[in-house]
Amino acid sequence: MQRPIAMFDSGFGGLTVARAVIDLMPEEDVVYFGDTARYPYGPRPHADVVEYAEQITRWMVDGHDPKMIVVACNTATAVALDRLREMVSIPVVGVLEPGLRALLSVSTSDRVGVIGTVGTVASGAYQTLARALAPTMDLTVAACPGFVEFVERGETASDQVHVLAERLLAPLVEAKVDALLLGCTHYPFLARTIGDVMGRDVVLVSSADETAFAVQRDLAAAGLRRPESSGQGTTTWISSGDTSVFAELGRRLLGPELDTVVGHQWGHDA
Ligand code: DGL
Repeated sequence: MQRPIAMFDSGFGGLTVARAVIDLMPEEDVVYFGDTARYPYGPRPHADVVEYAEQITRWMVDGHDPKMIVVACNTATAVALDRLREMVSIPVVGVLEPGLRALLSVSTSDRVGVIGTVGTVASGAYQTLARALAPTMDLTVAACPGFVEFVERGETASDQVHVLAERLLAPLVEAKVDALLLGCTHYPFLARTIGDVMGRDVVLVSSADETAFAVQRDLAAAGLRRPESSGQGTTTWISSGDTSVFAELGRRLLGPELDTVVGHQWGHDA
C-alpha cells in the first residue's frame, strides 16, 4: 500500500506547506492534521506545544502509517523537532532549516531578518540555527503578535493590518535587511502587506516552498518517492476543531483539494 506524507500544524497555516507539497509532488498521498481545537500555539508555553506535537505525531504514526512527518508549523518545529526525531523512526522534516537556508542564499548583503510568532522567536531556535549556518550574518528577529489573527479572519490587506505591520516590522526596516523570512506558516497570506511595508528591494522568503523542496529531497534520499507516473495522490484533511469551519476557511486558503474534513476529538488519548 502507498504510504502517505503526514503533516500537521496548529490549524490552517500549515496549509501553505501542504499546497506547496501537493504542487511539487501531486502523485504523493498527503494526510494533514490541523489542531484547531488547541490553536494557536504561538502564545502557549513551550512544554504544551511539545506535548501536543508528540501526541499528534504518535497518533498519526499509529493511525496512518506515514513514510514521513512534516511539522508544518514554525512554533512546533522550533520547540519540538528534535524530540519528534528521537521519538519516531521515519524522517521528520520541519520548516525552520529549509526557510533559513533559502533566506541566506538570496541575501546579497550580510543583513537578513526573520519574523515569527512570540513562541518561535522566544525559543531562540532561528537565532541558534543562523549562528550555526552563517556565523557572520547579521540577523534581526521580530515577533509579530496579531498577524495570525488577521489571517484567520481572512483580513490580509486591510488598513488595520497595514498599520500593525508598520509598527511590528519597523526594527527590520531600520536594520536595512535585504531579505526577510516569513517564519510563520500564516505570513505568506500577508505577503502583499509585508512587501509594501518592507519595500520592493527586500526579498520575501516563504518557508512553505522551501520545505516542500526539502520533503522531496529527503524522500528521494531515503528511496521513498512515489514514481511521478503513479497518477494523482489522495489527500485527507483532519481537524480537532469544528470541521465545517475548517472546510470553509481551509478551502479558501488551500484550494479545491480540501473537500471533506474528518473530525478528531482529543479524548482519553490526550
Ligand atoms: N502555525 C503557527 C506557526 O507557524 C502559527 C499559528 C499559531 O500560533 O498556532 O508558528
